[in-house]
Amino acid sequence: MFKIGVLVSGGGTNLQAIIDNIKNGKINAKIETVFSNKEDAYALKRAKDNNIETKVLKIKDFESKELFEKALIDYLQEKQLDLIVLAGFMVILSEKFTKTFENKIINIHPSLIPAFSGAGYYGLKVHEGALERGIKIAGATVHFVTEEADAGPIIIQKEVYVEDDDTPETLQKRVMEQAEWKILPEAINLIINDEIEIIGNKVRRK
Ligand code: GRF
Repeated sequence: MFKIGVLVSGGGTNLQAIIDNIKNGKINAKIETVFSNKEDAYALKRAKDNNIETKVLKIKDFESKELFEKALIDYLQEKQLDLIVLAGFMVILSEKFTKTFENKIINIHPSLIPAFSGAGYYGLKVHEGALERGIKIAGATVHFVTEEADAGPIIIQKEVYVEDDDTPETLQKRVMEQAEWKILPEAINLIINDEIEIIGNKVRRK
């Protein structure tokens, strides 16, 4: 069975999309663990409600972020995962982490990368930036994770139309509903079914 680990920090609606797709048979995999750096993340409740193992490690309980990461790496290696999914995980990972799990980590980002991505663009800030710029087409991207934030090979993107009266909150919701919750399960399936390969910094269908 293909083993997935999901790393979260917040509400976990993308985690829920993966859980739902496994339940309805569209994804043939098992979520081995849901890891959070925040003990009050609602995503943890979603995992527990579905009998999925959870683990919490907080950065402030370690002497350094490096030691936190080492503990996280050890934990994830123990689980022998085939894929690590960052689904709203608000920790910037070091090169040591990304190299340890090379080509095995994917992330969902709520914009059409490279727009509104990289340092400082997370959560609502992405949608605030997009509306300030007056864009007409927003969207989401699933990409492989490399040491540079939001810069790894792009797997899938999906567009979402901006409406004149959108607020960051309404745009965030529509991007999740129309793009994120669809393309994250799709990308996971492309990987499970071995349908894509990475060539340089690009993903191609095999
Ligand atoms: C999503 O917008 C995702 O794109 C971003 O963080 C948010 C997480 O939302 N990386 P949720 O916790 O999955 O509901």
